[in-house]
Amino acid sequence: MKIFLDTGSVEEIKKALDIGVIDGVTTNPSHIAKAGNNFEETITEIGELFNMYSKPEDNTVSAEVVTLTASEMVEEAKRLVKFHSRVIVKIPLTVDGIKAVTQLSELGIRTNVTLCFSLSQALLAAKAGATYISPFIGRLDDLNQDGLGLIAEIRTMYDNYEFKTQILAASIRTARQVGEVALMGADIVTIPYAIYEQLYKHPLTDIGLKKFLDDWEKFEETQKK
Ligand code: E4P
Repeated sequence: MKIFLDTGSVEEIKKALDIGVIDGVTTNPSHIAKAGNNFEETITEIGELFNMYSKPEDNTVSAEVVTLTASEMVEEAKRLVKFHSRVIVKIPLTVDGIKAVTQLSELGIRTNVTLCFSLSQALLAAKAGATYISPFIGRLDDLNQDGLGLIAEIRTMYDNYEFKTQILAASIRTARQVGEVALMGADIVTIPYAIYEQLYKHPLTDIGLKKFLDDWEKFEETQKK
């Protein structure tokens, strides 16, 4: 199970890499716009950071196309993969998107099919040869639909037919959901930095640690007498 950071902020990625438990990055046009820096330079810098930390080759950075027709997406993908060897091209789950993914698979260009909200969409992405499928849990839950259930269903479908496409659970809103998508069999989860920090935390850990250290201090005092 891999944990990716869902961000366009190089600073957040540096902090997570410094802690260590991080296996890749997903960006999208909104993240890149929010960070406000040059797209190509940002993606290249992220790729280089993972090299600097000697991360395995399967620790990738997803960069998304902003065109709509299959031919435009294929051309854009060819440009994006030149940014860095770790780049996986994010393609939206549309008719043209699936057509582009089929062509990119034949060219050996890896893809992350994004904006997936249904089982039939996930089936098409796998048949087109997508490297990752990104079902958006939070946005489904926002509409009172079952985001986690979709992850479980895609897992069963992919296992039934031995599809190689990896399930990347996206649009995560809580730290609890990270464990839940792991239970459902997601291969990867991508999370905002704020949730990454929460993964480490539990109030009982802090309370427990304080009690241990207080007791140890008292014990050391008695030893001095
Ligand atoms: C995935 O790759 C997307 O960038 C992301 O998870 C979208 O999440 P949101 O619904 O919080 O915007």
